Formats: sequence, structure tokens, C-alpha cells
Amino acid sequence: MNRAKIQGIGYSVPDRIVTNSELEKYMDTSDEWIQSRSGIKERRWVSSGMGTSDLAIDASKKAIQMADIDPQTIDLIIVGSLTSDYFFPGVSAQVQDALGISPIGAFDVKAACSAFIYSLSIGDQFIQTGKFQTVLVIGAEVQSTALDMSTKGRDMAVLFADGAGAVILKKHDGDSGILSTHLHCQGKFLKELWCEGPASRENPRLSVDMLKEGRHFPYMNGREVFKNAVRRFPEVIQEALDENDLSIDDISLIIPHQANERI
Ligand SMILES: CC(C)(COP(=O)(O)OP(=O)(O)OC[C@H]1O[C@@H](n2cnc3c(N)ncnc32)[C@H](O)[C@@H]1OP(=O)(O)O)[C@@H](O)C(=O)NCCC(=O)NCCS
Repeated sequence: MNRAKIQGIGYSVPDRIVTNSELEKYMDTSDEWIQSRSGIKERRWVSSGMGTSDLAIDASKKAIQMADIDPQTIDLIIVGSLTSDYFFPGVSAQVQDALGISPIGAFDVKAACSAFIYSLSIGDQFIQTGKFQTVLVIGAEVQSTALDMSTKGRDMAVLFADGAGAVILKKHDGDSGILSTHLHCQGKFLKELWCEGPASRENPRLSVDMLKEGRHFPYMNGREVFKNAVRRFPEVIQEALDENDLSIDDISLIIPHQANERI
């Protein structure tokens, strides 16, 4: 059976470190509140002019180096991101160009915080079917430029930041590699963590009114997101264990989504 194996990984974060005490200057918050609610002490935010593609390209180069492959052998590029540099096209086009790879397929997956797992799953399917041998999968976000830095936006501003991670998936004949992936979505909760604008259902997509009302800022119902995360996370872990006839005792390391240590 074809399996996809992670042969190389790379990450990239901006140089600029933003501490909790720096945030105290912009909004009514405190180091104590942030650390007790989330465990976060500092985050990385881009400096002016840096975009998601810069982080994605840097992370990709590191993953390629670790995998020790010729970039020309990559068959497909998938980028999970909701913060592409431009409204369109996606970051994947910039990565393909920057790496100087021949005109292979490259596309973005817009699945919010879950986008990397969705992207990994798609790359895995292409390898399992035998269609491709080598897939570059990237998760990359610049969230800091979207945030409301006033006290009104403090619940999100203290949690969100910028960074990218990339993996090289390689076809591998054997039992190891990605065993399974499990994807879920509950669209009925979409407005509990969403960003309304720019919106294709409005003409123009971005208006002075929208800016005045702050509808271009992301909104989060933190408690609802927290409740769902702590309920769904164990469920999907169990689903993955059951599908592979494993028990939790077989697992040596769980690497969860990092938004909040309490989750
Ligand atoms: C956001 C989160 C940390 C808030 O923690 P919480 O214990 O639920 O706190 P609450 O929302 O009940 O807020 C308590 C108070 O703190 C205030 N508060 C919110 N953000 C604050 C901040 N950054 N600094 C200080 N106070 C803040 C609230 O306004 C509220 O004040 P009030 O009681 O006067 O109304 C928590 O809900 C959470 O982690 N949610 C999930 C976030 C997440 O994982 N998002 C997904 C990212 S992909």
C-alpha cells in the first residue's frame, strides 16, 4: 500500500517578538490575565511589509533542505491559509514561483484553523492513490494585521499571531507514515469565529461603513469555541485510534493545536 511519509519539516516565524506587557500599551489587558487564560507569554508578529507568502516560502525551503530533495521533484503544492497576501490568487502560486519549480499544480485551502490538517489530508490522498510521489504541504498565517488592537478586540488580539510550517510528503512503501486523517466541520457555528469582510455578497466588497462598524475584524465567541474544542478534540482523537485499532496507551506524543494551553 502507498503511504505518505513526512520526510522533511520546516518552520518560519517573524523576528519581531511581542510580549504580553507590550500589548498592555495598546489595550486594557495584563500579563497575568493572558498567561492564566492561555499560557501565552509572547508571540511573533510580522513587521510592516512582510506577508504570509514570505513565511511560507522560508518554511518550505527548510523542509526541502531537511528532506534532502531536489525541488523539481515536487509534484504538487498545497497551502492551508486564510490570510493570503492578496484576495486572490493564493499563497501557493507565490511559493511555486519563488521555489522556481516547473508549472505543477498549486492551490490554497481555506479551512480556517484546521487548514493544515485538511491540506495534509489532501496531499496524503494524492500519494495513496499513486498519482503523486512528492507533495509540499504548508500551513501559513499572518493574523496580526487583521486584529482590532483596541480593548474591544483584546480577546482575539492576545491569542493570534504569525508563522508557517511546511512538510515534504513522500511516497513510501511500508507500514509507517500517515495512518489516517479525520476531517469534520459544523457550519452552524460559523459565526462563533468568523470575519465578515471583505465580502463578495456586498458591493463594493469593502466599504467605509464596513470599516466604521469594524466588520473587517475577526470576531470570536471565546467561550463557545473553548467548549467545542474540549468536546470535539477527544472525540476525534478516539475516532483516529479506533480506525487504526490503537489505544491511547500506544501514543507517545500528542501535538495539539496551540491556540490555548488550557484547551
Ligand atoms: C478567549 C478565552 C481565553 C477567554 O477566557 P475566558 O475564561 O473564557 O474569559 P471570558 O471570555 O469569560 O472573559 C472574562 C472577562 O475577561 C475579559 N477579557 C477578554 N479578553 C481579555 C484580555 N485580553 N485581557 C483582559 N481581559 C479580557 C472579558 O471581557 C470578560 O470581562 P467581563 O467579565 O467584564 O465581561 C477563552 O474563552 C478561550 O481560550 N477560548 C478559545 C479560544 C481559541 O482557542 N480560539 C481558537 C483559535 S483557532
